[in-house]
Amino acid sequence: MTTVGQPLQRLEGPDKVTGAARYAAEYPVGDDLAYAWVVQSPVPRGALRNVVADPLLDPIAVLWHGNAPRLSDSDDPELALLQSGRISYRGQAVALVVARTLEAARRAAQEITLEIEEEPHDAVLRADHPGLYTPEKVNPFFPAETSDGDVDAALARAPVTVDVTYETPALHNNPMEPHATTALWSGDDLTLYDSNQHPAGVAATVGAVFGLDPSQVHVVTEHVGGGFGSKGIASPNAVLAAMAAKVTGRPVKLVLPRQAMFSMVGYRTPTIQRVRLGASADGVLTAVDHQAISQSSRLFEFAEQTAVVTRHMYTAPNRRTGHRLTRLDMPTPRWMRAPGEAPGMVGLECAMDELAVACGLDPIELRVRNEPAVDPESGLPLISRHYVECLRQGADRFGWAGRDPRPRQRREGDWWIGTGVAGATYPTMALPSTARVRDLGDSRYEVAIAAVDIGTGARTILTQIAADELGVPVEQVRIRIGDSTLPKASMAGGSTGSASWGWAVTGACRELRATGKLEVTYDSSESVSGQKAGKHAFGAHFAEVRVDAVTGEVRVSRLFGMYACGRILNPRTARSQFIGGMVMGMGMALFEEGVLDPAMGEWVNHDLAGYHVPAHADVESVDAAWLDVQDTEANPMGSKGIGEIGIVGSPAAILNAVWHATGVRIRDLPARLDKIL
Ligand code: MOS
Repeated sequence: MTTVGQPLQRLEGPDKVTGAARYAAEYPVGDDLAYAWVVQSPVPRGALRNVVADPLLDPIAVLWHGNAPRLSDSDDPELALLQSGRISYRGQAVALVVARTLEAARRAAQEITLEIEEEPHDAVLRADHPGLYTPEKVNPFFPAETSDGDVDAALARAPVTVDVTYETPALHNNPMEPHATTALWSGDDLTLYDSNQHPAGVAATVGAVFGLDPSQVHVVTEHVGGGFGSKGIASPNAVLAAMAAKVTGRPVKLVLPRQAMFSMVGYRTPTIQRVRLGASADGVLTAVDHQAISQSSRLFEFAEQTAVVTRHMYTAPNRRTGHRLTRLDMPTPRWMRAPGEAPGMVGLECAMDELAVACGLDPIELRVRNEPAVDPESGLPLISRHYVECLRQGADRFGWAGRDPRPRQRREGDWWIGTGVAGATYPTMALPSTARVRDLGDSRYEVAIAAVDIGTGARTILTQIAADELGVPVEQVRIRIGDSTLPKASMAGGSTGSASWGWAVTGACRELRATGKLEVTYDSSESVSGQKAGKHAFGAHFAEVRVDAVTGEVRVSRLFGMYACGRILNPRTARSQFIGGMVMGMGMALFEEGVLDPAMGEWVNHDLAGYHVPAHADVESVDAAWLDVQDTEANPMGSKGIGEIGIVGSPAAILNAVWHATGVRIRDLPARLDKIL
């Protein structure tokens, strides 16, 4: 009897669709509840001298750096909220209004007068920005630059070269549930109902900011309506809600309005990527060079690892990657689904498509010819890579054979039709976590771990893993997650959740069965530290688009992903992760962009009306399939992470299909119709 591998429905599904599932802003916490509203800076740079509230509106409190409680430093300067008058970007929290109702708080916030000395600002990323520098590391800990062989000499000698610059815009995380916190103090103990991807991490960070012992902070994160990385660390709302609750002595609820999410919770940095490829006439790479430029804020160095993915994809004797960064008077960029890989694979995989054209080769064949025999970066043997199988079997499933390689050949009525392909990859990792299992008698068990289900199906999968390890049906396992006081777990990020938490759950269950104890707490740190580094999941994305010859409108008529991600723990939730990532990739290719007003230092389209994320009407046929492979060396489940790989390469597959349909290369995303016409 195994339930792992079965398409179980989400255990919390009925609670979610009936409204019984509680999110961070939905907990009844008492009649004295107050509401907070953030006042955001209307200028991108300057000094806040004074804050004047309208006395007639009489809010419970107006907090700003002139009266806010002093906080301790954390690693994150963005959490030093209301501690100084320095304004580092437009939209930065400069004051907080607390009132009896949401409407009263918002109204009082709107009527606040801010006395600001504005200073000249710089908001525009450019390839020739004078402030560009090479950071010491790029996220999370990679060298900013690598170099093998002599790239310049190889490019000069190469019979076929491609030298292209691809640009990706600022992109904004828009989880359905906004960032939200309900905070209440009981003496010196703090409880936060908070929407995040790491309850234990948020408890530790917020605790540190308020000078509390970790045991004094309790973070409840029962359900989360998406995060995509933007809820990976404590958000400003968590600190502000706790501060407001402390000052007012009431429970305080703070939900970020959608518009505030465009400046207060990070975004994907814009990138400018120059990719140069050199190859023999038959498409064997002799040189690969990927140089990426991105931005960060004045407050914090966030260095997107855009070109790191190129270190692992294709072999070549001469290879070079590099990153440069500039600090602007703009909000701090942060994680957004597959940070690094998602933008980086636009540059690399579109450039590979251009090389295939230059060599007169099928783009799949070009990739197969450059498949490495060992990891190009480390020289270590490749373990469970399967990239070529994804390309070949994906091509069969998609119906690639017989494709006319020439662009602008297929027209049906007003539509130009084209197809495109691109590779996908994402690192495979597990992080240390701790799980506890209790024998409740009658073959019933309770499994507890401070994991969090951000919509991925983690709750269900962990129950399946535990049921198999304990040898009982899933109905006999009660899972407890989403609470920082449970045994400590790693973040729901980096596509590491199932591997990390599943490892701890497996260890706890195995030990319970082996020892016959009634309760076991298992810490995976030791076994996780023995995992092989440098593993990746792979995939291949295929797109068919049609482009309106009159309007330039692009429709994605088919999007298909073929993956090799180890053992698939639950095909239903896995498929949902894959196609969700692919649809997000469609948004990146065609719709999403933060449009900057340089004079205001602001993204003007900061809401879901102006910033279009794919809607159901945009999605025609999207599907995912996977190879039946297990990676028994990765972790005890044989699985690999699947949360992010769907957005890696899918934008490039769509852009390559747009070229095939129309003959137009879009090198600055998104592929808006005005660029295609
Ligand atoms: Mo993901 S950007 O690691 O939550």
